[in-house]
Amino acid sequence: MSTLTTAIIDTVTFEGQKPGTSGLRKAVKIFQQQHYTENFIQAILDALGTSLAGSTLVVGGDGRYYSKEAVQKIIKIAAANGVSKLLIGQNGILSTPAVSAIIRKYKTLGGILLTASHNPGGPDGDFGIKFNCENGGPAPDAVTNKIYELTTSLKQYKIVNRLQIDIDTVKSTTVQVDGKPFTVDVIDSVGDYVALMKEIFDFDCIKKLIQGSDERPPFQILINGLNGVTGPYVKEIYGKELGVSDANLVNCVPKEDFGGLHPDPNLTYAADLVDAVKAGPYDFGAAFDGDGDRNMIIGKKAFFVNPSDSLAVLAANLNVIPYFKKTGVKGYARSMPTGAAVDRVAQKTNIECFQVPTGWKYFGNLMDAGRLSLCGEESFGTGSDHIREKDGIWASLAWLNVVASLGKSVEQILLDQWSTYGRNFFTRYDYENCDADKSNDMMKYIEDLIGKPEFVGTKFTSGSKTYVAKEGDNYSYKDPIDASVASKQGLRILFEDGSRIIFRLSGTGSSGATIRLYIESYESDPATYTQDPQMVLKPLVDIALKLSKLQEYTGRDKPTVIT
Ligand code: G1P
Ligand code: ZN
Repeated sequence: MSTLTTAIIDTVTFEGQKPGTSGLRKAVKIFQQQHYTENFIQAILDALGTSLAGSTLVVGGDGRYYSKEAVQKIIKIAAANGVSKLLIGQNGILSTPAVSAIIRKYKTLGGILLTASHNPGGPDGDFGIKFNCENGGPAPDAVTNKIYELTTSLKQYKIVNRLQIDIDTVKSTTVQVDGKPFTVDVIDSVGDYVALMKEIFDFDCIKKLIQGSDERPPFQILINGLNGVTGPYVKEIYGKELGVSDANLVNCVPKEDFGGLHPDPNLTYAADLVDAVKAGPYDFGAAFDGDGDRNMIIGKKAFFVNPSDSLAVLAANLNVIPYFKKTGVKGYARSMPTGAAVDRVAQKTNIECFQVPTGWKYFGNLMDAGRLSLCGEESFGTGSDHIREKDGIWASLAWLNVVASLGKSVEQILLDQWSTYGRNFFTRYDYENCDADKSNDMMKYIEDLIGKPEFVGTKFTSGSKTYVAKEGDNYSYKDPIDASVASKQGLRILFEDGSRIIFRLSGTGSSGATIRLYIESYESDPATYTQDPQMVLKPLVDIALKLSKLQEYTGRDKPTVIT
């Protein structure tokens, strides 16, 4: 190919290109507007400043609708902005954890992820773009704020219009751009990630569990990829490496529209998995979200493992996993709304435990500083310092490694955990697609109410239960490593007995507002351990709904999703 040249295009600025909890997420139709995607990519590259020239970046995503167009735009714009090399997943496919792993392995300047995670896809669905830094983790607030600021005054972008690279085949292509070499390596989407998993876990032990032995029948597992990006990874790891039959790996071909599914692994949107495990012979079920960073774990008869409990169980059993045998356990962390079960494990083992705001980006500094090994969020996110993202397949393998080593069922592991530590009951109510103004009004109302000095000491009674307010605030976090402050991270009502009510507005939606209500209480009476969390938490839910006037503000008499 002859030398390609850069063109400078005059553009219009767009409002609202502000990354949320995890990148910029909008309807596909918004990204399809002329210049919209180009502007945001240019702003990401501009935010990297002088480190951009000669750099290598990773590009990939969950393969949702509009990904391929976006990859081609990134190739053209990166080439024009002095990037030397792109590592692109074949067909544009790379799970979010795989991008993180690849950034770290090849020590690149960062990566651009094309995903809206668990939001539905397709021409009428959502698209998303997110930047991860050289540690492999989501860009911190300082970087995303800078990107946003740049979008508000962007007048031009640079692009190599004639550059078009085939990303369907694994190969390396070098072209001359403005007289300098520019390389695109289309890489196998799964190889590096699979190699990493094999280093971390005891695959032989998991394989024996799954295949059974003279002493133990095969441990039957069912995986549902919800038509997201994890399909090829699941087939390679669970199919080829661990010998699980293809029939037990469901929805494992990535589809641009997720086959119409809402690719979010929870009891509502992964109901197919839950129903199949409830009715079938399976000992274990797992589902992952669109981009592969979330996980849901269920045991026999669809025994549900709450993500907050999942974190605590893994924390208590990390010593069976080869990776942690080597690195030791440096610390634990959870996001603020996540149930505090892990705190109890930390206390008992005398290991540091951190509470951070919602969003994986807040764990990165602690990991980079060598103070954090395992962390999680109530929103079906679990992960470790092997990368800087939460990792769905990793979590499922961690569970299987623990099950294989302990020789107990999923349910028995939970029962034992509760009898050792007591049980932190947890539930989350989501009110999706509410009116944004009314939701903001409600939040303001609650914040005023709980901020009044007389709020402390107020008694709230529901049924036979009475709770006394100990503290109310809008959660603020000071990063222990770089002292940066994240404020307004959720309204917290803390009661004297340790129970909590938390209200937050989602930062990942693409339209309207989603209100999240998180409820937690702790019980140490063994008679309660097997009770339905909805029953145990009902008094607190009722108090939360009454105190917030949620129905009055939103017109909703029930949530869209209960976890
Ligand atoms: C949600 C979850 C949060 C998670 C994020 C990205 O964000 O609540 O824990 O980190 O998705 O997966 P939210 O929509 O609540 O802002
Ligand atoms: Zn995700």
